[in-house]
Amino acid sequence: MPENLSAAAAGTWKLGDFTINRLGFGAMRITANPDRDLAIRVLHRAVELGVNHIDTAAFYASPGGTLQVGEGPVRYANELIREALSPYPEDLVITTKVGPGSDPERGFYQATTAAELRAQVELNLRQLGKETLDVVNLRIIKKPGEDSVAERFSALAELQDAGLIRHLGLSNIRLDHLDEAQPIAPVVCVQNSYALDTHREDDAFLPVCGERGVAYVPFFAIAGSAREGAATADHSDAVRRIAAAHGVTEQQIRLAWTLHQGAHVLAIPGTGNPAHLEENVAAGAVELTPEELAELS
Ligand SMILES: NC(=O)c1ccc[n+]([C@@H]2O[C@H](COP(=O)([O-])OP(=O)(O)OC[C@H]3O[C@@H](n4cnc5c(N)ncnc54)[C@H](OP(=O)(O)O)[C@@H]3O)[C@@H](O)[C@H]2O)c1
Repeated sequence: MPENLSAAAAGTWKLGDFTINRLGFGAMRITANPDRDLAIRVLHRAVELGVNHIDTAAFYASPGGTLQVGEGPVRYANELIREALSPYPEDLVITTKVGPGSDPERGFYQATTAAELRAQVELNLRQLGKETLDVVNLRIIKKPGEDSVAERFSALAELQDAGLIRHLGLSNIRLDHLDEAQPIAPVVCVQNSYALDTHREDDAFLPVCGERGVAYVPFFAIAGSAREGAATADHSDAVRRIAAAHGVTEQQIRLAWTLHQGAHVLAIPGTGNPAHLEENVAAGAVELTPEELAELS
């Protein structure tokens, strides 16, 4: 591991009026291990290494960091973040998402009304112990022809005007959703599933975000097609060869590849493992040559 390991190595991005290191952290995996102290340690270490952008959601809960809440005491990512990091460092930006929700009566559900979205925003505020949420992504389920974001995004823009939210983003979207949202309120980020070997249909959308000054934030960059399951073990020969040449892991190459797709691309790798956290931060310093990038793509 490099001696001067720092999330600053990959440079910074201006997310609205916040300046953040491009190499951030995704909190979906910190509820996976029943050892609460481990999650707290990972969060402390992330911030110590310079991570100042954490992605989360009120519905990230144990077990498994997945959406369903099972037997035993529930660990919520937001509450772990609050316990570990509050009072929050001044430069820490916490991005959360609304749309999907989970409650004991309905189980997993999608918020569709302004009242439901407001309730989710208020839940995030309570869990995180904040008066204003830094960034809120409207996370949708795509259903072409029936998935306009206008009403839901307008509802969030009203909450922004009311001071509950600083900046807005969108998640799991296409370009037409961004076109629809931008006249309603500024969009600071788009968070989509995208990796070296999955969802490459976003190859065309990713640069458009950059042209518009919108951050593109891929999730499942390491997990790939394994999605919520785990890190994919299905690496191409190029990934294996280039990882060996740099003396890093395949997961680090997958992450570094995303960061090379544009200065507006942010990384939010998720882990509950302190060693993986350090590797992910170190991936921000991996420099790939144009030849390597061509080979990987
Ligand atoms: N907007 C959305 O719809 C959406 C959906 C999913 C996720 N997200 C956000 O995006 C973040 C990233 O997604 P993700 O966490 O699902 O996937 P990811 O970062 O692509 O991969 C996480 C998986 O890879 C493992 N891993 C992480 N770093 C590793 C390393 N250096 N070496 C080996 N294995 C490693 C993790 O296990 P260990 O814990 O064992 O390291 C975990 O199984 C999430 O944490 C969440 O904040 C957003």
